[in-house]
Amino acid sequence: MSTIGFFDSGLGGLSILELALDQLPLHDYVYLADTAHNPYGQRASTWIRQRGLAIVEHLSIKRGCDVIVVACNTATAEAILDIRLHFPHLRIIGVEPGIKPATLQSKTKTIGILATKATLESKKFNDLIGTMPPGFEFLKIPGTGLVELIEAASKDELSIEIWLQEHLQGLRKSHADTLVLGCTHYPFIKDLVQNHLGPQTQLIDTGQAVVSHLARHLHQEDVSIAPTKAKGSLLLLCNIDPSLFLFKAQKLLKNPLIANSSTEFLAL
Ligand code: DGL
Repeated sequence: MSTIGFFDSGLGGLSILELALDQLPLHDYVYLADTAHNPYGQRASTWIRQRGLAIVEHLSIKRGCDVIVVACNTATAEAILDIRLHFPHLRIIGVEPGIKPATLQSKTKTIGILATKATLESKKFNDLIGTMPPGFEFLKIPGTGLVELIEAASKDELSIEIWLQEHLQGLRKSHADTLVLGCTHYPFIKDLVQNHLGPQTQLIDTGQAVVSHLARHLHQEDVSIAPTKAKGSLLLLCNIDPSLFLFKAQKLLKNPLIANSSTEFLAL
């Protein structure tokens, strides 16, 4: 079986890991939360690239991961090309805002995209927008400050509601019928965003598409290796207070592997 490394600046990538644990439970997982450097969204491209390379090196060499999920839109946007170049022997799977599915679903052809400033300004993201069919209007909404609120108190609904009130005003006044959640932290507040915007706005996130992609890869690559274990394992790594991180992760994730996971302080 594969050892699959996930990384993000913090809790966000857990929204994808949760689906992977549910659907692909026989593998071993290592989740690296770079909490000492959270959030990534305001950082410079070069910094994000170098950090992504250092993390993938750690996951592959020190932790034996042969598949890496870059469970962060910001790191995917800024670092995945370099990561693939430096580690051609690894399978690297990234996550991108679901703009294509949004264009297939939007009737008004006006689509909001909520993502970090770094993602919205990245070349990869703007190249992706450039490949979309003509006639669509894309409203880019930088999620500045939102990741911090989700990290600080995953259940502090009031501060998140106030943030949404302030920052989604333009979207509410527009003709947008679709909002792309372009950061892996945002699925954790999907219900709040949906309540705020009402049922007429459809929300798009790509967590399931990433896990389906991972599953296709694992079935192709591991076809000769029959599952021998009843279930896999999960190791959580983080560079600030691992027990606090585990506490927050257990609040967010229901999968039993989380309860049986081990945590380690990461000196990286
Ligand atoms: N969850 C990440 C993303 O998908 C990182 C956000 C941040 O650290 O600013 O973009």
